[in-house]
Amino acid sequence: MHKITLIPGDGIGPAIVDASVQVIEATGVKVDWDTQLAGMAAVEEHATPLPEETLESIRRTRVCLKGPLTTPVGGGYRSVNVTLRQTFNLYANVRPAMSFEGTSSPFRNVDLVTIRENTEGLYAGIEHFIKFGEEKIAAESIAVITRQGSERVVRFAFDYARAANRKKVTLVHKANILKCTGGLFLEIGRDIAKEYPEIDFDERIVDACCMQLVMKPEIFDVIVTTNLFGDILSDLAAGLIGGLGLTAGANIGTDAAIFEAVHGSAPDIADLGIANPTAMILAASMMLEHLGEKEAAGRIERAVRAVIREGQILTPDLRKDSGFGTQQMTQAIIANL
Ligand code: NAI
Ligand code: MG
Repeated sequence: MHKITLIPGDGIGPAIVDASVQVIEATGVKVDWDTQLAGMAAVEEHATPLPEETLESIRRTRVCLKGPLTTPVGGGYRSVNVTLRQTFNLYANVRPAMSFEGTSSPFRNVDLVTIRENTEGLYAGIEHFIKFGEEKIAAESIAVITRQGSERVVRFAFDYARAANRKKVTLVHKANILKCTGGLFLEIGRDIAKEYPEIDFDERIVDACCMQLVMKPEIFDVIVTTNLFGDILSDLAAGLIGGLGLTAGANIGTDAAIFEAVHGSAPDIADLGIANPTAMILAASMMLEHLGEKEAAGRIERAVRAVIREGQILTPDLRKDSGFGTQQMTQAIIANL
């Protein structure tokens, strides 16, 4: 019996998290869920986006399946996702993007994993306005790159490549302009690469990397990069394989691991029952793998791929006017397990 914290989340979160729970239960893996609130749902009930009970639960279970959480833009509370990543030292955000047969994406040979540094860089939360009287005349954000933070995420990327039998790690940076922050990350990457002679090491500047990802995605294998670039590149990679509805991510750290979809709470479709459950279900598969349930994890991934390949019971983001929604696609996946 695995004890897992479950955060349904905001917007489409509860529907796709429920879909994932149904799929896990259908594999026969036994889970004792501890359901907790975060995000807008928690603000309504507890007047805080991240209640102490939720943190306490993750401290206890050390594993969490989390729906997307709405974050106010500009003002309002700080991103709960960023706070969770920093609180539990979830330093590596692992986001695989592998082409699906059956989508309309023109890219057929994508098979890459973005490993995003998840706790520092421009997301360190050191931001302020400079005011002249009441007027904001400037705003500053400070990017923090530490030796320890860079070493652990680059090493994670190489260890991941080794374990997954992948051949190449590409470090993505902007060290030509960001000479200190980008420079230190790159220097550390080059040093650690020497400890893994059997894995090719490649380095690319982020803007050129974006172009190459679109022109020749097949040349990428494992990408390791700083926080902001990783956020952007992993959405780009999601676009290459058919959209945000398909891409899952694992936040892995020293104190816990949190599994989620790469996409957000999709307020534009929140109450329509048409959210694609794939990303969240694949996050559940990554979680089972992490828990040592490799067989069930593999079955889930194969079932999802079979349903998309068959091309029938798909949500409208994959098949326009399909007439099917989250529930039907989930049932089709369960039928394929
Ligand atoms: P979003 O990812 O929620 O939506 C972007 C577009 O993709 C929308 O058109 C949406 O309908 C579509 N989409 C996303 N997931 C889908 C799915 N499963 N099935 C079908 N279509 C899907 O990004 P947006 O709109 O920028 O952010 C909405 C909220 O989510 C914001 O408050 C943001 O801060 C939050 N967010 C939370 C994340 C998390 O909890 N890890 C990650 C990204 C955003
Ligand atoms: Mg993002």
